[in-house]
Amino acid sequence: MSKPKIYLSSPHMGTKEFDYVKEAFDTNWISPVGPHITAFESELAQYNSISHCAALSSGTAAIHLALIILGVEQNDEVICSSFTFSGTCNPIAYQKAIPVFIDSEPETWNMDPALLEQAIEDRIKKTGKAPKAIIVVHLYGMPAKIEQIMSIARKFNIPVIEDAAEALGSTVNDKKLGTFGDLGVFSFNGNKIITTSGGGALVSENEAWIAKARFLATQARDQAPHYQHTEIGFNYRLSNICAGIGRGQLQVLDERIKARRANFDHYFKHLSDYKGFSFPKEPSFFFSNRWLSTIIIDPLKAKCDREKIRLALEAENIEARPLWKPMHRQPVFASYPNYQNGVSDKLFEQGLCLPSGSNLTSGEISSVLELIKQQVG
Ligand SMILES: Cc1ncc(COP(=O)(O)O)c(C=O)c1O
Repeated sequence: MSKPKIYLSSPHMGTKEFDYVKEAFDTNWISPVGPHITAFESELAQYNSISHCAALSSGTAAIHLALIILGVEQNDEVICSSFTFSGTCNPIAYQKAIPVFIDSEPETWNMDPALLEQAIEDRIKKTGKAPKAIIVVHLYGMPAKIEQIMSIARKFNIPVIEDAAEALGSTVNDKKLGTFGDLGVFSFNGNKIITTSGGGALVSENEAWIAKARFLATQARDQAPHYQHTEIGFNYRLSNICAGIGRGQLQVLDERIKARRANFDHYFKHLSDYKGFSFPKEPSFFFSNRWLSTIIIDPLKAKCDREKIRLALEAENIEARPLWKPMHRQPVFASYPNYQNGVSDKLFEQGLCLPSGSNLTSGEISSVLELIKQQVG
């Protein structure tokens, strides 16, 4: 019989989620409207100290609606972090727009502000106009250099969508990620720091944009007693049941962040002295929710490489995963413009995400550590 699996990041329910779900059943709000949705939106907005929030069916849906709200259309260019999950940039393709990928800086692994500025200048030179929007990602919970990115974006008057799908609760100078840009995106997919099984949200200080997001997410139904449509809409709303799960999860979010940060600290304490092993550190005034604990293994310095460790863990039914493959290396996006510096390529070659759930036991973490230590002798 195989050993019980240790997951990379699995759902971790608190004590209130089921009560909220039961309330939805008891009151028959089994639908994509209902009191949990409204409450979840206002509780999430309050947690992030932002004025407006629309709960949606996924983070990808939130990015898609953000692009539509910003007027992104066919052949418009949209700047996007290259080092990310495809959910960040697939919506650019949904709009038949053109992604322009920007590589990472080595400190936070997120969009390199210097490369961003060069890329904007180059796009203006090549196409005669500025890109229509910027999507900046905060990967693995680590904040991007968002203040620098915002000031470059403001200089060129380009709106910013912050993809904080992995970074709920992370901050820069005590300000929550997702609230620096013109629009912010969260994901509540099953692997995220809190989950609604599947879900997402779009936040903004712009009330009209969030009202527009709700309108588009409910099939763009005009105000009329009958069904009338003057725009193409989507079925992107979160269900009242899932919103109930989200309300319970929000109550334990800060505990989940604490547990994930403790995982990271544990890995760091036990592995950072090994030759060739390194971990991403938080720059001053940056606070990461440490959604996933990640490690870099330099095969020229360490006594093993990333794959040896990943395969050893896999053989013991422990899930670990290479860091994201950059979008400029993905066959489906390879033909689009990109601005590279080699940073994300190297991260992809040498990086590994370790089991990171807030529900990992100390015994499970010890097994992971033991196995890794065995690979380096
Ligand atoms: C960085 C990033 N962006 C976007 C998404 C898309 O979110 P969802 O899965 O809720 O559509 C995810 C995660 O799944 C993600 O990790």
